[in-house]
Amino acid sequence: MTLNYLQGLEGARDYILQRLPKELSSPRVLIICGSGLGGIQKIIEKELSVVVSYSSIPGFKESTVSGHEGKLIFGYIGANKVSVMCMVGRLHFYEGYELSEATFPIRVASLLGVSVMIATNAAGGINPLYKPGDLMIISDHINFPGLSGSHPLRGPNVDEFGPRFLPLSNTYDLELRKLFFQSAQSRKITRRIAEGVYAFVSGPTYETRAEVRFLKTAGADAVGMSTVPEVIIAHHCGMRVFALSLITNTCVGDEPASIFDEAPVSLEQGKATHSEVLEYANKASLDVQSIIQATVNRL
Ligand code: 6GU
Repeated sequence: MTLNYLQGLEGARDYILQRLPKELSSPRVLIICGSGLGGIQKIIEKELSVVVSYSSIPGFKESTVSGHEGKLIFGYIGANKVSVMCMVGRLHFYEGYELSEATFPIRVASLLGVSVMIATNAAGGINPLYKPGDLMIISDHINFPGLSGSHPLRGPNVDEFGPRFLPLSNTYDLELRKLFFQSAQSRKITRRIAEGVYAFVSGPTYETRAEVRFLKTAGADAVGMSTVPEVIIAHHCGMRVFALSLITNTCVGDEPASIFDEAPVSLEQGKATHSEVLEYANKASLDVQSIIQATVNRL
């Protein structure tokens, strides 16, 4: 099984290599565009880039979610021409993919020589200080599916990538977090930037009010349905990892409407919708693009 799995990864790598000019065959940085953040692809120099759609790559699954295109872009970012591989569209557990399938592209990136991963996502704000439009640099995570068995490293360990028992106590690289924050300042970004804990839940439902209270008590600042599996696999491969959440909506943990309420209560307040998530992400995308460009240029 491990042999077949490795051969699958190598097959995908070889397919991609056939399409890349030699200068792009070993990208340094993997960038993952989150929901509504596909605009990040615009910072890649267009003339020198190569696009490969997921559907053409052996072993790659297709992204089925609106706002996720499903293509890889290889190219250069910034005046220093840092070579990147960009995933426009990610694969989620809730789409029905195994975590090994959802994280397949990360290991292909590792085989291509990528040493830094920058992942982005849209997330719900749990921390009461967070407002839609804020950015949260992820400093730690809670892997709810992973704590109860759905873990991306479950199964035979691929020793070629990393150890069986992987410590995750310093997963989110402090230097990269500082670099991102300094880059935002250098680009005069006024959007609020916080640092916090991201809770990964499987989705596809948004949280109930009781679940929001539970996540808050557990120590989460934001909640979402992605990123953590990719982060774990990237860390296992030895990549330096940076991850960013764009807060697209605030989660409301107030008690639900009750049969004992005397006055009518709003049932709309705190109800998350995918269109709201995409709307806020699209608005913030320009700032995120600018900061990532400055960050990658300094790597
Ligand atoms: Cl409120 N919850 C989850 N699980 N994911 C989200 C979200 C909320 N908002 C954006 N992504």
